[in-house]
Amino acid sequence: MPCAPVLLAAAIGLVLSGTIAAAAPDRDQLVAADYRQGRTAFQQRCSACHTLTEGGSNLAGPNLWGIVGRPAGASPGFPVSDALKAAGFRWDVARLHAFLAGPEQLVPGIRMLLPEPVPEADRTALLSFLMLETGAADWPRPAVAMVEEKIDRTRPLAERYPSFYNHLMTNTTRYRMETADGELRFDAYFNGDGSVSASMPAIRGFWNTVERRGMEFFCYALDGLPARPTQLVECFPIAAMAIPRFAEQLWTSRPVPGVTLHGGIIAGRP
Ligand code: HEC
Repeated sequence: MPCAPVLLAAAIGLVLSGTIAAAAPDRDQLVAADYRQGRTAFQQRCSACHTLTEGGSNLAGPNLWGIVGRPAGASPGFPVSDALKAAGFRWDVARLHAFLAGPEQLVPGIRMLLPEPVPEADRTALLSFLMLETGAADWPRPAVAMVEEKIDRTRPLAERYPSFYNHLMTNTTRYRMETADGELRFDAYFNGDGSVSASMPAIRGFWNTVERRGMEFFCYALDGLPARPTQLVECFPIAAMAIPRFAEQLWTSRPVPGVTLHGGIIAGRP
């Protein structure tokens, strides 16, 4: 009986320090982890905001090459938050493992929003993949890494950015265009076949993705607008839209001088 309060105190201590998650994997577990599982988890949960290769671009989040062993918030060329800079630790396996379970618990106030913690079943595999791809692993990359990487970039958008893709394809994109002659409002619907339809039947369009300087952009063209300009071409980095958000106004652009275009996404379709 006397040990019960001690255990309780220990449990509370663990909860408060935010490290109740499973223990960090040891080296054997990291070496044995499933590379493909880790890569899939990274692609689905991290790749919209982070590149891994040496010299890779900073997206919405910093390039992660060399992250293991580096002080938190010291990624070169990226304006990190004060919260991350103040974390005061170096990234190691245990810290990264805890980070995947809850970035906010490890670094309160961090400006990185994960829609949900990485499920425990994926954490070791993701961490192993991350270490292999950022120069931190002292074991060889599995053969499968070489074979499939080429195929990956050609895989459909729906597989590479599932949450972004589903968001755009199942909801309504709302536009408000301010011109000298007044305001034009219409809704557009991005379709899986690469077309764009709209609430005004005269408006038609198509979309595609392009890569520029290591970043992937979602681009689309609309035609038949009953206003000037009658055509619009817009591109935005997929990383900027990676976390699905609903709002009447999410972005603003100036397609031609004197015209302001506001875009947003609202839930569902008629
Ligand atoms: C929506 C974009 C986004 C997603 C998704 C995302 N991150 Fe981040 N990440 C960021 C941002 C932004 C920062 C910098 C946070 C800050 O400054 O507070 C960051 C910071 C980090 C850092 C700390 C970098 C440093 O220099 O200390 C690590 C490690 C990291 N992310 C790993 C991951 C992993 C692993 C995933 C997937 C499970 C992930 N991130 C998903 C945006 C993202």
